[in-house]
Amino acid sequence: MTELPNEVTFGGVRPLVGELRVPGDKSISHRAVMFAALARGRSTLSGLATGGDVRATLRAFASLGVRVKPNGENVAISGSGFEGLHEPDDVLDCDNSGTTMRLMSGILSGRDFVAVLTGDKSLRKRPMARVVEPLRSMGAAIDGREHGEFAPLVIRGGALNGIEFDAPVASAQVKSSIVLAGLQAAGTTVVREPARSRDHTERMLAALGASLSVDGLAVSVRAGEWDGFELDVPADPSSAAFFAVGAAITPGSDLVLRDLALNPTRIAFVGVLRRMGASVEVAEREVRLGEPVGDLRVRAAPLRATTIEGDEIPALLDEIPALAIAAAFAEGVTSIRNAEELVVKESNRIGTIHQELTQLGVGCEALPDGLIIRGGSPQPTNLKSHGDHRIAMAGAIAANALDGATTVRGWRAVASSYPEFHEHLAVLTRG
Ligand code: S3P
Repeated sequence: MTELPNEVTFGGVRPLVGELRVPGDKSISHRAVMFAALARGRSTLSGLATGGDVRATLRAFASLGVRVKPNGENVAISGSGFEGLHEPDDVLDCDNSGTTMRLMSGILSGRDFVAVLTGDKSLRKRPMARVVEPLRSMGAAIDGREHGEFAPLVIRGGALNGIEFDAPVASAQVKSSIVLAGLQAAGTTVVREPARSRDHTERMLAALGASLSVDGLAVSVRAGEWDGFELDVPADPSSAAFFAVGAAITPGSDLVLRDLALNPTRIAFVGVLRRMGASVEVAEREVRLGEPVGDLRVRAAPLRATTIEGDEIPALLDEIPALAIAAAFAEGVTSIRNAEELVVKESNRIGTIHQELTQLGVGCEALPDGLIIRGGSPQPTNLKSHGDHRIAMAGAIAANALDGATTVRGWRAVASSYPEFHEHLAVLTRG
């Protein structure tokens, strides 16, 4: 892969026009790789997310003895159930990927060998007790820095018992980690969450025939197996959200984002953009392994401020960097509350969004659980990614709507989810 530049300059009020299929959804890609590696038989996956995060998951399974074979655009994975995993002879490096570390912890908790999970500087600062504690209560022996709060994590798995777990946070990573352990446990495992987080694990496993059921905010699972499968991973709405906001704020834009995952737990940003006055049309076309898929059309319009809070938050948490840019260009004061989980993402996103909006000349207040953004007239400047892919892409779409040059430093951070972002933006804004 070609090395990404560490800084990129954007700008010039360039409308986003045409059609784009962004790379495969990151959350669905991680799960597709995991469920294929744990299936009995051969699976063929196409359209996987192209960033470093999903590569870390593929690498982890190869280190655990699963046959992972790239085949042109596709990846063939041959699994032999959970028993097909073997003790790795080295540390598993999850790089920047929280999903890899937290979901692999659930998988490894049921395996009778030792494995060590580590990651980059950012991942080693992210909280892990939220999965370590329930996994320990199922019977896994897990240690890590600060009693298991931080990676590296050392996991010695073994026989697990089912638990009833009330998750303190609405987190799909926590829920999925416990479900993956529950698939190897004696009896039933129930995970209840305080609000609905993304539900790819439930939809995909149910479509594969695993014994899993959903009742309101509770997911129940029992041990089970499934066969290999084929999946063309739909495009990532969290990546598309940057272009959707870019089109909404850049006059003259008319953009179609094709073949997107339209899971309702992922596209709450569409409702917010509509509330703000943007023109967004959604057309669902099919269902793939339990996941609705279709197109989004976004046209530019003057935006007004809104309030984003409560149960809407888990369904758009990753889109807040993009929505903060929409708020920066909107008329009025936008309030984002109940989003304290932003602090433990790839960067402290309350702090980093606050810093970059201030740098753009936008009035912004950081709160413990969110941000108050006074929309107005952002100005060209120099921005930083803080090592966070979504902060880098948010900077790029703001810059693209500004009359003048803006440089985003630390651009390489986009490699974790969307290495081709700059190329794709250039194609849409060619004019
Ligand atoms: C993800 C869940 C979310 C999200 C992350 C991907 C997943 O994290 O922010 O980018 O694939 O399960 P949390 O579960 O920590 O909220």
